Amino acid sequence: MSNIESVLNETRVFNPSADFVKQANISGMDRYRALCKAAEQDYAGYWANQAREHILWHTPFTKTLDESKAPFYKWFEDGELNVSYNCLDRHLATQPEKTAIIFEADDGKVTKINYRDLHARVCQFANGLKSRGIKKGDRVVIYMPMSIEAVVAMQACARIGAIHSVVFGGFSAQSLHERIVDAQACAVITADAQMRGGKVMPLKTVVDEALAMGGCDIVKSVIVYQRAKSDVAWNAQHDVWWHELVAEQAPTCEPEWVGAEHPLFILYTSGSTGKPKGVQHSSGGYLLGTMLTMRWVFDYKPTDIFWCTADVGWVTGHSYVAYGPLAVGGTEVVFEGIPTWPDAGRFWKMIQDHRVTTFYTAPTAIRSLIKLGGELPKQYDLSSLRLLGSVGEPINPEAWMWYYTVVGKERCPIVDTWWQTETGCHMIAPLPGAMPLKPGSCTLPLPGIIAATVNEAGDDVSDQHGGFLVIKRPFPSQIRTIWGDPERYKKSYFPDEMRGAYLAGDSASRDKDGYFWIMGRVDDVLKVSGHRLGTMEIESALVANPLVAEAAVVGRPHDIKGEAIVAFVVLKGSRPADAAKAKELAETLRNWVGKTIGPIAKPDEIRFGDNLPKTRSGKIMRRLLRAIAQGLEITQDVSTLENPAILEQLKEVIK
Ligand code: PRX
Repeated sequence: MSNIESVLNETRVFNPSADFVKQANISGMDRYRALCKAAEQDYAGYWANQAREHILWHTPFTKTLDESKAPFYKWFEDGELNVSYNCLDRHLATQPEKTAIIFEADDGKVTKINYRDLHARVCQFANGLKSRGIKKGDRVVIYMPMSIEAVVAMQACARIGAIHSVVFGGFSAQSLHERIVDAQACAVITADAQMRGGKVMPLKTVVDEALAMGGCDIVKSVIVYQRAKSDVAWNAQHDVWWHELVAEQAPTCEPEWVGAEHPLFILYTSGSTGKPKGVQHSSGGYLLGTMLTMRWVFDYKPTDIFWCTADVGWVTGHSYVAYGPLAVGGTEVVFEGIPTWPDAGRFWKMIQDHRVTTFYTAPTAIRSLIKLGGELPKQYDLSSLRLLGSVGEPINPEAWMWYYTVVGKERCPIVDTWWQTETGCHMIAPLPGAMPLKPGSCTLPLPGIIAATVNEAGDDVSDQHGGFLVIKRPFPSQIRTIWGDPERYKKSYFPDEMRGAYLAGDSASRDKDGYFWIMGRVDDVLKVSGHRLGTMEIESALVANPLVAEAAVVGRPHDIKGEAIVAFVVLKGSRPADAAKAKELAETLRNWVGKTIGPIAKPDEIRFGDNLPKTRSGKIMRRLLRAIAQGLEITQDVSTLENPAILEQLKEVIK
């Protein structure tokens, strides 16, 4: 809470410059308010107009919003479209030669591809998928490095109506296995390896390991893009090289016209149980959300060079790498490597080299680049930049100010965009030609997004008090269900107390101007370096180790990563006898979690106790553990603890 108090004391306000306002797609607060009013007066009519203006429909829709089976909403249901057609074909007549993607590999090699060629490659690959028997509605897991091919794979699935489920390349075989089985995928698209920071990291081997875990008989094709020319094991039954698959394929492929509600993709994300949720998105509503926000929030112009640094394994890489920038006909940078290699100037050099105008990254990246080379941006020509963006976690005012002054030279507005895997696109974010900015606030909801803060009973809370962040009316880009688990969808996002509002899982407060200040998650979800991780998932991974009897995982504020993971572990035998043994065991368990979930989930710290602090009814006292993890004085009532001595054990930091 103290963090929030300090953020709320932020009084600096930055108005957009007159020049920016003049050229903006939405100029001035009056335009913003007029759009909000239009949505208020005729909600369905407003969204119908947007959907007609932005999307090319194969069959126009006549129904806008069906709320009869709430919260299973349907948008533009009888309309037919194809998302890949909207991203590629629509630009062929007007700008076939325009560069769609500027790809920079880890080693600095640059490859550009224009709309005509990208279309041809997507069609060839789509034909390749069809030749393997993959059809509309089938699920295809994509486990690939950042590459033109990853975008081609996603677009090709969309083209034939197959539902992709991209799994971040940093997830382990077990996580991949879990997702393949849950989605019942019939194909996996992968690469031999990925290159990051000068290192070759295997991918195909991880897929092999995942498939060997059983229950994957349904997987009939593993399509392998040859990236690193690494040695891979080969299973002739289902493995096929990407280049061989497309070699004979025609460069045209009639798109599969699908209903607006046809699922475009599933993307797994962490919730408050041990099992990740397959967030299912639609075709029409989702596409509309990405296109509108490209124009509204990123103020997209045809001359822009857009760069979103997110991996396609996360929702940001779906909406603002694979779909949004192409749907509006933009030129975008796709980057294979990491921001700190060969040094912490990589991002700034790439902005200079590619004349990037719009740069979108995460606070964690900004904070680590400040630490590793706060002066480095000054060595590069960043004059092409006109807009900066932030996503994934709250940005602290200090990082915001550095981004604004050192990177943006006080010329570029910063759009701090609040949204989630579930919302598909930005929800609360500045329209940069309209809203005055306050460092640390994501400002106001987009026109048509009815966001509010409420208490446990679902009643609005007054300004300047914290509450649960909700969205009161359905919106086109929202999650449709959790794949295979509609009950969990209802329970997680539409609990009865919220009376039909979408419960985001964050808390927030609003200031006197109605600006939103996000306070963080209120469930057992952590944001570690912008990655979303469930404490229960990490606990389950720890408990699956034969040495571990019990585990509790909490977050602790971290200067760079936002949150660090602290695990309290009870071993099956006795506590480690000495510091050396404790250190060794902690390392073993960290690696175990890395192997089970993926390196992003490795606890930063592990502490051992004979027991965990529990209430009389047996519930772990997480608040107490959070205080202990932070080294705070314990103010909670601990009189109910069976064994107060364990508090001393759990305070012990392993050095
Ligand atoms: O806690 C919020 C935080 O990220 C969560 C959503 O995570 P994920 O589904 O992985 O999507 C991340 C990319 C959209 C939210 O519940 N979050 C996201 N953006 C912001 C944020 N917190 C504060 N400010 C933001 N701009």
